[in-house]
This record gives sequence, structure tokens and C-alpha cells, in this order.
Amino acid sequence: MLDELLKRPVIPVIVIEDAADAEPLAEALLEGGMDVIEITFRTAAAGEAMRRIAARFPDMLLGAGTVLSPEQADRALDAGASFGLAPGLNPDVVRHFQAKGGLFIPGVMTPSEIERGLSLGCKLLKFFPAGNAGGPAMLKALAGPYASQGVKFCPTGGVNLDNMNDYLALPMVAAIGGSWLATKQQIADRDWAGITANVKQALARVG
Ligand code: 3PG
Repeated sequence: MLDELLKRPVIPVIVIEDAADAEPLAEALLEGGMDVIEITFRTAAAGEAMRRIAARFPDMLLGAGTVLSPEQADRALDAGASFGLAPGLNPDVVRHFQAKGGLFIPGVMTPSEIERGLSLGCKLLKFFPAGNAGGPAMLKALAGPYASQGVKFCPTGGVNLDNMNDYLALPMVAAIGGSWLATKQQIADRDWAGITANVKQALARVG
């Protein structure tokens, strides 16, 4: 799972209000060339949206975001998610997710949190909120001492088309995540063509 995820440099972070939009949204991403999706547990529709995507697009890499409790970890895995993320590092959530066979990517923004993540066996960590936490320069300084540990980062929070390559240029950055690829407004408007265009634009910019 980790190897598969490491092949995808850009991860769309999704907030979805209506589970009926899940399939057309996933289709729009796939149409643009993106076969990974993070559905956040920020809405009541998240679990059902995950279930629908897992059923309809079993080859898509499906992640659950904003997983804040072991109970949400269960819901994510039951819905078919194969990886999970959180803004912070809650050892109970990490262990629970891992024990059930999923890959968990906890959020960090300090050296102590990185060490905690490593001690829990997490080789991929979310750097969040990347922009406010100091951006690429901060991540470079923060990650320096841990280069020998093989740890990789997924910065999210304030990452966009214009700054994503500043992060992706860093050797410790495996991928970036962002909500600009499929905004809440675009999903509400069912602007699937606009989402496909965002995805194509981002993937072309990554090169
Ligand atoms: C996340 O959870 O990864 C972020 O909320 C996404 O941040 P963005 O909206 O700034 O892209």
C-alpha cells in the first residue's frame, strides 16, 4: 500500500456533503488521470461516499482523512478505505488502524511528533498545516535530522498549484495533498469538468 501511494505525488482532499456525488466525483478525478482520493470525515456523508467509491472503483486508492478516533478508523476500513490520515498524531487511532491492516499517516509539525510517528512504525507522515507551519523551509529543517530514518512526508494545508512544486522538490516529500483540486463549491455545483481540468493542470505541472 505504501509503495502504491508513493507513486502518486498529488492527493485530492475531499469534503463531500452528498454521498450521491461520490461516483461522479471519483470519475472526474480518474478522467483527469488521478486514481487516488482522500475523503475526509468532516461530513456525515463521508462513510457512505467511501463505500460507494470502493464498490464502483475498486482499483482507486481510497483514503479516509480526518480520522480522529478508533471508531472512525473502523468506519473507514469497513467502508473500504485502505489508508487513513489525521491532522494530528493520536497513538490510539494509529495503532487501531494499523492493527486492522491499514496504512495510517498521522499529522505532525514538531520533531517530537515525528519521533512519535516513527516509534509507531509510520514511515509516511502528514506535515500539517504545511503553509502555516512554515512551508517547505520549515519541513526541510524539521526533517533534516530524520533523513536516515527513511521517513517521507505528505504536506497538506495551504498547498496549491503554485507552491506544490516547492514541496515536491524536497527529497523527503512523497506527495502533497490539497482541497483545491476538487473544492466544496465545485462539488456542490457538480462541476465535474472543472475538477477534471484542475487535476490535469496539476498533473501536467508536476511533470
Ligand atoms: C487537509 O486536511 O489536508 C487540509 O485541510 C487541506 O488543506 P487545504 O484546504 O489548504 O488544501
